[in-house]
Amino acid sequence: MELFDVYSLFDITPVKGQDCYVWDDKGNKYLDLYGGHAVISIGHSHPHYVDRLSTQLKQIGFYSNSVQNPMQQELADKLGELSGMDNYQLFLCNSGAEANENALKLASFYTGRKKIVAFENGFHGRTSGAVAITDNPKIIAPFNADHEAGIVAWNDIEAVEKALSKKDVAGVIIEGIQGIGGIHIPDAAFLVELQRLCNKYGTILILDEIQSGYGRSGEFFAFQYANIQPDVITVAKGMGNGFPIGGVLVSPKIKAEKGMLGTTFGGNYLACAAGLAVLEVMKDEKLIKNAKKQGEYLSDKLAKAHWFKEVRGVGLMLALESAQKIAPTRKELLLKNYIFTGVSGTYTMRLLPPMTLNKSHIDHFISGLEASIDSG
Ligand SMILES: Cc1ncc(COP(=O)(O)O)c(C=O)c1O
Repeated sequence: MELFDVYSLFDITPVKGQDCYVWDDKGNKYLDLYGGHAVISIGHSHPHYVDRLSTQLKQIGFYSNSVQNPMQQELADKLGELSGMDNYQLFLCNSGAEANENALKLASFYTGRKKIVAFENGFHGRTSGAVAITDNPKIIAPFNADHEAGIVAWNDIEAVEKALSKKDVAGVIIEGIQGIGGIHIPDAAFLVELQRLCNKYGTILILDEIQSGYGRSGEFFAFQYANIQPDVITVAKGMGNGFPIGGVLVSPKIKAEKGMLGTTFGGNYLACAAGLAVLEVMKDEKLIKNAKKQGEYLSDKLAKAHWFKEVRGVGLMLALESAQKIAPTRKELLLKNYIFTGVSGTYTMRLLPPMTLNKSHIDHFISGLEASIDSG
């Protein structure tokens, strides 16, 4: 059987990962500033993570959501403690798209409305509702296009009020920091106003923190820079450091009913072990603080080098926008300097490294970048 050929692949086969490095099958060692697409939060194969998952697997790997699993509550408690959202409720699922799909459902259940408002340039996943509110017609199949979705301009509060004022919008969804769209931070004043308008018109405010959450921005959630309290928050990516897990944090105003949401795999023992290990390491190694500190050091170096038209972002979620096409520099970095980076569109390099990144990794990147730019 052939694989369904949907991905453009680099001709590299990673076989080992450790902290901020991966090794390919030829023994080449790469600095990973892409973090497997913002997933590797505490570093590849962190010893505590490996230990927690393997110990758990020897005990029990899976049962269903029809029995008691105290690890789910342990994970909820730890997440509440680290994020400061301890009065919220947690629904566990398996991916970012699934988290958003459930968030949209909750908004619709709560309000009895159907319509969702999202933002230009946004990405929320590939499942039915999540893709319908993603601003990319190429990935929306006719089947998905029947959802009632409105896309409004980024940071445009008047457009939001116009859309909400008919009082038929179930939810507004916004990324804490736009990721795939190229690392755009919503204005804090815009988020504050957005929350006020959602309250005024009885609409649920959903913060998609799937890429920007879990400490990457230097706060647990990127929206915490604006000091708002969304009704629903979605998480995935860094939550499991590579183990598939997603979550929906639900404000106390939305009450759970039996059978309202559900999943077979969500919240299984291995997922909980991965989620707990991530939070334990984040706390022990003060990784949120480190993300902020290293992000500042890196942004500062990049700003001083003047290689890019703009350096955007905060913490370890950065966009380096070039005046030239970025593909040759990224290729040079990868194949000659053995450094993985991410991308957004044609001109922008995206950095989403593990939050264990340190100054020597950054200095290594800066010299690799200098060499790549010189020969590009
Ligand atoms: C902001 C955001 N939301 C949702 C998703 C979808 O997550 P998943 O690929 O786990 O379904 C992504 C994935 O890149 C994302 O960046």
